[in-house]
Amino acid sequence: MRLLRRQSRQDPQPSDEGDSPVIELRGVGLTYPGPPPVEALHPCDLTVRRGEFITVVGPSGSGKSTFLNVAGLLDSPTSGRYLLDGIDTAALPDRERTALRGRRIGFVFQSFHLLPHRSALENVALAMLYTGIPRAQRLVRARAALDQVGLGHRTGAVPGRLSGGERQRVAIARALVGRPSLLLCDEPTGNLDSANAASVLGLLDDLHGAGMTVLVITHDPEVARRGHRTVTIRDGRLHP
Ligand SMILES: Nc1ncnc2c1ncn2[C@@H]1O[C@H](COP(=O)(O)OP(=O)(O)OP(=O)(O)O)[C@@H](O)[C@H]1O
Ligand SMILES: [Mg+2]
Repeated sequence: MRLLRRQSRQDPQPSDEGDSPVIELRGVGLTYPGPPPVEALHPCDLTVRRGEFITVVGPSGSGKSTFLNVAGLLDSPTSGRYLLDGIDTAALPDRERTALRGRRIGFVFQSFHLLPHRSALENVALAMLYTGIPRAQRLVRARAALDQVGLGHRTGAVPGRLSGGERQRVAIARALVGRPSLLLCDEPTGNLDSANAASVLGLLDDLHGAGMTVLVITHDPEVARRGHRTVTIRDGRLHP
C-alpha cells in the first residue's frame, strides 16, 4: 500500500539494504545510572524481520517500556549493538538518530498523546511539520492516513469528540503518515473498552496484512495472541 512505502532518501546507508531485518539487537542492554543503578534490560539478542507481527508481554516493571524505548531509539542502550534496517544506530550522532527515528519508526502509546484543541486532521498533519513537506501536501497525506484507519469522515473532529478507539486510530494514522518501517505500540488498547480495543486490534491486523512490521507491548493475553510471535520479558530478561 502506498502509505507503507519507506522513505530512505536521507538516511545513512544500511550495510545490506533490502534483506536486512528491521530490528537486530546483539547483546543490547540498558542500565539506568541511578543511584542506585537499575539493570532494566539485561543484554539480549532479538531479530525482527520485515513484515513480522510481534507481541511483547511481561509483568509490570519487567522492562517492557524500557525495551520499547531502546527499540524506538528514544533511549540509547548502555551495552550491545542495535541495527535498525541494517543501520548501526550506536555509530550515529544524536541528530542523525533523531532523524532516523522520525523517518523509520511510528509510535502508538496507551494514552494517545493527541493535542486536544486540534482536529484529527491537524493532529496527523503536525507529525510532518519538520519534514520539509509543503502544508498542502501534508494535509493531503494526513487525510489519506485517516482514510486508511477508517476515519475519513471524522477529520474535522477534535479528540474530545471522538471515542477512545477513534482517538487511538487517529494516533495510529499519525504514526503511519511518515511511512515508517516499523510500528511500535506500548499498550495500545490499555485505555479502551473491549469494543474499541477490538477495532484497534483489527486495524493493526490489517496493517500487518498490508506488509507493516508491528511490535506491540501488552499486559493482555488476548492482545498477545494477535502476534505471530510472542516475546516475554521477566525481571529485565528477554526470552524470545
Ligand atoms: N528512568 C529510570 N530510572 C531508573 N529506573 C527506571 C527508570 N525507568 C524505569 N525504571 C525501572 O526499570 C524497570 C523497568 O521499567 P519499565 O517501565 O520498563 O517496566 P514495564 O514493564 O514497562 O512496566 P509497566 O507494565 O508497569 O508499564 C522498573 O524496575 C522501573 O522501576
Ligand atoms: Mg510500561
